[in-house]
Amino acid sequence: MASRGFCRELYSCIFDYSTPRIALIKSRKVGVMNRLIQLGILAYVIGWVFVWEKGYQEFDTVVSSVTSKVKGVAVTNTSALGTRIWDVADYVIPPQEENAFFVMTNLIITQNQTQGHCPDLPDQSTICNSSHDCIPGFISTHSFGVQTGQCVAYNETVKSCEVYAWCPVENDTELPEPAFLKEAENFTVLIKNNIWFPKFNFSKRNILPNVTTSYLKTCLYDRMHNPFCPIFRLGSIVSEAGESFRDMAIQGGVMGIQIRWDCDLDKKFSKCVPRYSFRRLDSRELDHNVSPGYNFRSAKYYKNINDVESRTLMKVYGIRFDILVFGTAGKFDIIPTMINIGSGLALLGVATVLCDVIVFQFFKKRYYYREKKFKHVEDYDELTISLKGLCKQRTTISGNEEHGSNP
Ligand SMILES: *[C@@H]1O[C@H](CO)[C@@H](O)[C@H](O)[C@H]1NC(C)=O
Repeated sequence: MASRGFCRELYSCIFDYSTPRIALIKSRKVGVMNRLIQLGILAYVIGWVFVWEKGYQEFDTVVSSVTSKVKGVAVTNTSALGTRIWDVADYVIPPQEENAFFVMTNLIITQNQTQGHCPDLPDQSTICNSSHDCIPGFISTHSFGVQTGQCVAYNETVKSCEVYAWCPVENDTELPEPAFLKEAENFTVLIKNNIWFPKFNFSKRNILPNVTTSYLKTCLYDRMHNPFCPIFRLGSIVSEAGESFRDMAIQGGVMGIQIRWDCDLDKKFSKCVPRYSFRRLDSRELDHNVSPGYNFRSAKYYKNINDVESRTLMKVYGIRFDILVFGTAGKFDIIPTMINIGSGLALLGVATVLCDVIVFQFFKKRYYYREKKFKHVEDYDELTISLKGLCKQRTTISGNEEHGSNP
């Protein structure tokens, strides 16, 4: 059996030649099906590829530069600092950053630190009863200095290991709540964004040409009423992202200001406009509140009255605003147009393939149609006939009944 099948296959493979024959099926069902499939493909090519995805355009991604300027003044009145004014130079740290700006919202300040010996901040590893609990020269990763091996009184009730450090050490266990600079909610920032699409040599900025100086002095971004004003209230940025500024100001965090430029350069210049959106970038999970927010330390150094080097240490909590610019521009180009037309035409061929599969595999009358479509043509050549005869003989000898399906 196997030898017979193999023999026939080999024979067909070498000596049969198949060539397409056009069969015109006069059936309304098949005709309508073919047209429907063609229509579907045409709708996909025109509707999706050309109209929706703009297949006739060449695309380029945006190149951009961002500068920002924060404005606002706050007054605080605390026992440690008295009445104090905070302006931009105080709360924006550092004064300028690339594609970002940081605004301080909360603060733990330790004034008049000098280098010397003082008790460490009491915690599990620094609380002691006697000098035996302290190791000279030991530096813990959470410590502010080097242990001297003495056990000294931190306050009336608690004793802790003495350290050589900037003294007195910072006590950051109690964070001001509500935030120290909660007024930052009403600060504003002007964001200047210049963009460029290199492939089309198209440049624009987010201060649109119709904006006047007087408008810029008074306007404030509002998604509904003022979507193109480049001045943002910090509180609105946070609330647009669905967060509460009052909460975020306590521990700090990271906000993203997204500027999206999606431009169709086949349309008017004025149609290419920025779209702003906001989101919180540092993840905040309510049920897993480990190491939340954003903070860092910075210090100001000076010489005190006795000419000793001193510093004011600040543990600064605040919100860093990252400005993310992205977008694409498209413009008509002959090459993508031709490529898409070509592939669209090629795709029309799929209709024939699909119809063939359906008609010859799934139709009830598939055998009838197959018979009409595939015509087996015998050759009259003597050599091939005798070769075929040889093959038949061999299979008959091996004990199999010959029932060729070929006529
Ligand atoms: C922000 O400004 C509004 C209106 O001027 C005022 O009602 C509000 O108290 C201010 N917010 C803070 C935190 O100072």
